[in-house]
Amino acid sequence: MVGLPARGKTYIASKVSRYLTWLGIKTQVFHVGNYRRKLAGLNLPHTFFDPHNAEAMKTRREAAAWALRDMIAWFEKAEGTVGILDATNSTKKARAWIHQELTSKDIQVLFIESICEDERVILSNIKDVKLSSPDYRKRDPEVATEDFMQRIRHYEAAYETITEQDLTYIKLINVGSQFIINMIRGYLESRIVYYLMNLHTRPKRIWFSRHGESLFNLEDKIGGDSGLSPRGEQYALKLPELVKQNIGDRPLTVWTSTMKRTIQTARHLPFPKKQWKALDELDTGICDGMTYNEIAAKYPDDFAKRDEDKFNYRYRGGESYRDLVLRLEPVIMDLERQENILIISHQATIRCMYAYFMGLSHDQLPYARIPLHTIIELTPRAYDFDVGAVDTFRPKGQVSRRLTNDKFVSASTSSTVNIPTLQEGASGEIADANAPILPITPVSVAPC
Ligand code: SIN
Repeated sequence: MVGLPARGKTYIASKVSRYLTWLGIKTQVFHVGNYRRKLAGLNLPHTFFDPHNAEAMKTRREAAAWALRDMIAWFEKAEGTVGILDATNSTKKARAWIHQELTSKDIQVLFIESICEDERVILSNIKDVKLSSPDYRKRDPEVATEDFMQRIRHYEAAYETITEQDLTYIKLINVGSQFIINMIRGYLESRIVYYLMNLHTRPKRIWFSRHGESLFNLEDKIGGDSGLSPRGEQYALKLPELVKQNIGDRPLTVWTSTMKRTIQTARHLPFPKKQWKALDELDTGICDGMTYNEIAAKYPDDFAKRDEDKFNYRYRGGESYRDLVLRLEPVIMDLERQENILIISHQATIRCMYAYFMGLSHDQLPYARIPLHTIIELTPRAYDFDVGAVDTFRPKGQVSRRLTNDKFVSASTSSTVNIPTLQEGASGEIADANAPILPITPVSVAPC
């Protein structure tokens, strides 16, 4: 990363890391600030960042060298693929040193420079993010803001934007309004650049809902393309009111899969709709139309294998969760560009998208709880890592289970509409037969 403080570097680093990790590319961010805090402690005054403060400069260089060493060790020992050095790296000298250290170890370097001249964005970044950083904990916000502005001025005094034509880089100017790219090579760099070009930091809300209960759900069958059950129909009918209560009059776009049950669920909503084939449920291959009990009896080895490694297990003639992540990648890319969007899809597909926004690991992803007749609201916020989330695990080795007394279900209040459901989805989980329609469940997700 390259850029002055409060230019969204940590946000960009975290987004790229989350995206690549979600795709299965081993990625880690190394925050030089954390190393500096270990060496020099907390609550440092802005004078620590003055380039004329020789003693502090020595400590800062040590922190950067420590982070870089750790990153190189991680590449070698942990077989990491993408390491992100999150720091200002704001001089030609600093970049030349990084480039030299890494290329001498055959590590390809891509510099990502974030340039932002919009004072309002910088100030809101300081207020939203920097004041809650360990550097300013328990400090008076006004004093902290002033100190941080001074810190930025110190950096500005020495700052050199990238002009080194022999380096590979992308410059992001004013959060996505302009890009300059230089010498991008190969698949991974192109992928990262493409992703960065889709990011924006305008406020965003995303709502997920599974389709209403389907006829196949009633029979505990997976797959298929059945329509809604009477209770699923009730959910579809209630959805416009539920959306209005919770989403208000915001302009909204609705995305569904191409399957009957999601299209029927969305049909009463008075918003523009788009169907995505990529949002169709996990393809269960030869098991399509069977119940989990039938699968366990007919294909016991497959059943056991799936439970051993649910993310990688691929249904014969069908898909795995890993396949699904790849299928959903264009949806995620497009989602990053959106502002208010309601996605009506399926359990497995929503799990994958939810995992991307919540940073769930591949082990956690297939167990994320996405109940029927529930809207999940994601409110991405810059750098807010204090993530409130539903309980996402179920123990392995169960054909099915009922969800009772959990946070999600017990979150229902008198404002809910009671349409009981009993269903089994592609994960083999059965939702609480008495689960009401829940109010929209707000979940804060980092970062935007
Ligand atoms: C920090 O100390 O917060 C980061 C060091 C830097 O990038 O200048």
